[in-house]
Amino acid sequence: MNDINKSASLYKELIDYSKKDICPMHMPGHKRNPEYFIDGLPYFMDITEIDGFDNLNDPEGIIKECEDRGSKLYGSKKTFFLVNGSTSGILAGIRSLVNYGDKVIISRNSHKAVYHAIELNGLKTCYLNPVVDEEYQISGSISLDMVKEAIYKNEDTKLIIITSPTYEGVVSDIAGIVKLAHEKGIPVLVDEAHGAHLGFTKGFPSNSIKAGADIVIHSLHKTLPTLTQCALAHVGGNIVDINRLSKELSIFQTSSPSYILMASIDNCIRLLMEKEKELFYPYEKNLDSFSDKLCSLKNLSVLCKGNDRIENHPGIYKFDKGKIIINTKRTNYTGSMLAEVLRDKYHIEIEMTSVNYVVAMTSICDKEENFIRLLEALLEIDKDCTLINGEAPSNKMWQELPKVKYKISEISNEKGSFVLLEEAINHVSLEYVWAYPPGIPLIVPGEIITKNTIDNFKDRIVSGTRLRSTKGRLPKEINVKID
Ligand SMILES: Cc1ncc(COP(=O)(O)O)c(C=O)c1O
Repeated sequence: MNDINKSASLYKELIDYSKKDICPMHMPGHKRNPEYFIDGLPYFMDITEIDGFDNLNDPEGIIKECEDRGSKLYGSKKTFFLVNGSTSGILAGIRSLVNYGDKVIISRNSHKAVYHAIELNGLKTCYLNPVVDEEYQISGSISLDMVKEAIYKNEDTKLIIITSPTYEGVVSDIAGIVKLAHEKGIPVLVDEAHGAHLGFTKGFPSNSIKAGADIVIHSLHKTLPTLTQCALAHVGGNIVDINRLSKELSIFQTSSPSYILMASIDNCIRLLMEKEKELFYPYEKNLDSFSDKLCSLKNLSVLCKGNDRIENHPGIYKFDKGKIIINTKRTNYTGSMLAEVLRDKYHIEIEMTSVNYVVAMTSICDKEENFIRLLEALLEIDKDCTLINGEAPSNKMWQELPKVKYKISEISNEKGSFVLLEEAINHVSLEYVWAYPPGIPLIVPGEIITKNTIDNFKDRIVSGTRLRSTKGRLPKEINVKID
């Protein structure tokens, strides 16, 4: 703690600098002139790479010191600050570990940033299809058997890319996956965008850096106190060429990084170094008490909370209890209806809705009253909703993966034709379709559209989910290759 107080804080340096009488004959154009600070935004400390403030793309001074602190906190070999979100770390991280045209093994439920990296690097893919959890209709963990088989069948694999935790908080056995991959000399990149808070206390699963992954990407802004876009790229082990990663990062990150964002990252790291236990102890206590009180739910259920145990979900290796996944499957509510009631009646805005569930996100910054408010709302809604008889609509998406006919890079710039959804069956998609959040493509350019794909789009549209497509004509039309 003493050490941290003595070390240079980027935020404090910016504040001190803003108080000095220095005439800014440099970018940004607002010139730190208070006459233009009419919107309350922190222009007074918004600077560029002036003397004494180092350079994100080639750090040697205060930014290097800040990154080294991040590395110490997470136990990495090297940590890079990201001001363009996890997206930039995923693009650069993947590019640093492959050559154009290589083959990669990836979990099919990856974020679109992973697919964009595949497209840009002309990669061939072997997809891992996580089992669907029956009750919640969400993707489970990537199992070791799946990885073993994929490596066995694809000896030319150059990289394994896993998302853990998923958007819904499902964690895979990264230590086991890394062991299998490293036996064959294959590096592992983990998109841990949703897990920057993991590995600090025993109540949460460990993180992928401790599990031995080669590159781990964290969106600090998702689960820890930083400004939006703040993220980290960590390197572990000896496989990664750090110079190459650094070069790739300078391609995918802005050459004018915001010092406000970097100071926000540094402050978050300092906070965790100084107050880890003070922050996580009350958070866990609030989560556990929230969970206990959910035992009285009769109609709704919450994943791994209340009476629901992880043992009920054989496809889930571990779960991040910070995520609150509320299942409406057995009730007269859809996910969207539940989100609407929470918003309109209780003024609670949740993170994401799907056909039969909603995702609420929590963090060390949530006060006890937030948990109580959500708890009371859920208990009341649970009394109001009724159980339905018969089959609830199910998420059919990942029961069978769409067949890949072309690599994404081979086909994504073709013009093709726009057709009605029903007419697209058996044709190759020329665009991505996803719901945002979570930004996981339901179809990818080069994949063959099936009836299952179209039924899945329709189920989502009917349940109130807004689907987006690269070329923008959904829900009516989709762009396909007509042979
Ligand atoms: C699993 C996953 N990976 C990566 C990203 C991209 O993160 P960012 O918004 O920090 O670029 C997201 C964003 O939602 C995500 O859910």
